[in-house]
Amino acid sequence: MSQITFQRKTAFVTGAASGIGLAITRQLLENGSTVVGADLNEDRLKELEVELGSSFNGKKLDVTKEAEHEEVISSIVKEHGKLDFAFNVAGANKSGTITDLSLDDWNFTVDLILNGVFLGMKHQARQMKKQEHGGSIVNVSSLNAHVPMYTGSAYASAKAGVEMLTKNGALELARDNIKVNAILPGLVNTPLVDDFKSEEIFESFMERIPMKRAAEPEEVAKPALFLVSEGASYINGASLLVDGAWAVSGYPDLSKFF
Ligand SMILES: NC(=O)c1ccc[n+]([C@@H]2O[C@H](COP(=O)([O-])OP(=O)(O)OC[C@H]3O[C@@H](n4cnc5c(N)ncnc54)[C@H](O)[C@@H]3O)[C@@H](O)[C@H]2O)c1
Repeated sequence: MSQITFQRKTAFVTGAASGIGLAITRQLLENGSTVVGADLNEDRLKELEVELGSSFNGKKLDVTKEAEHEEVISSIVKEHGKLDFAFNVAGANKSGTITDLSLDDWNFTVDLILNGVFLGMKHQARQMKKQEHGGSIVNVSSLNAHVPMYTGSAYASAKAGVEMLTKNGALELARDNIKVNAILPGLVNTPLVDDFKSEEIFESFMERIPMKRAAEPEEVAKPALFLVSEGASYINGASLLVDGAWAVSGYPDLSKFF
């Protein structure tokens, strides 16, 4: 991947304090971009500012709050003059079977995953529309946008929404030179899936994942960077599965664990 894509570019990453968002942040920095990394976890962002150096700027942001999106984008423009790339990565999940899941837990998950990406795209694209060169947005959806997960109705429904929101964004924003694509990871080795490290569930995943392992976060970050690179100049509205071929073998039956 040519570094020219990334040099003198300003990138914004949500969920930058951990997992996939942090891996995207590190790779953008390695390739010469300036990165504004947003997360709820302010303490970790402060540590990362020391570790990653002056090209990284951490901002506390709750992706479910519209005013905070507006504020962070305006501070990026004030400090860096433009926004070239945005990666909407932040996410978490409250699970439960449909008959047991509370409306609060459903709302928490949908608000964070689907509304959070909508609000991000809205304010990122408003800025990119003002720039002649437009910009490029990557949303992190999930294999669960295509495949349901036992106890994961809110998460899978919200991730399916993120995939469609991505396509709608591509449709509406192409005229402004803005691309919007989605990455759909399978199982990735991050704190988010620590619950699944319950051996039985993890083993049931391994039986189904043809590559017989989870991805490392860097293996999701690299395709995410590809989607904003020159090599992907005609890729728009796409859903890129990064799942070690899991989609072709199907999800395990987790009902036996509940
Ligand atoms: N790990 C996987 O197997 C996997 C698979 C498919 C999709 N994903 C998706 O990838 C994305 C990143 O997940 P990860 O595995 O790196 O998890 P992670 O837990 O390592 O990182 C998620 C980050 O999001 C932040 N966050 C949570 N709520 C927030 C909010 N309201 N506002 C701002 N930041 C918030 C957390 O503080 C954390 O730093 C998520 O959208 C997740 O659904 C992960």
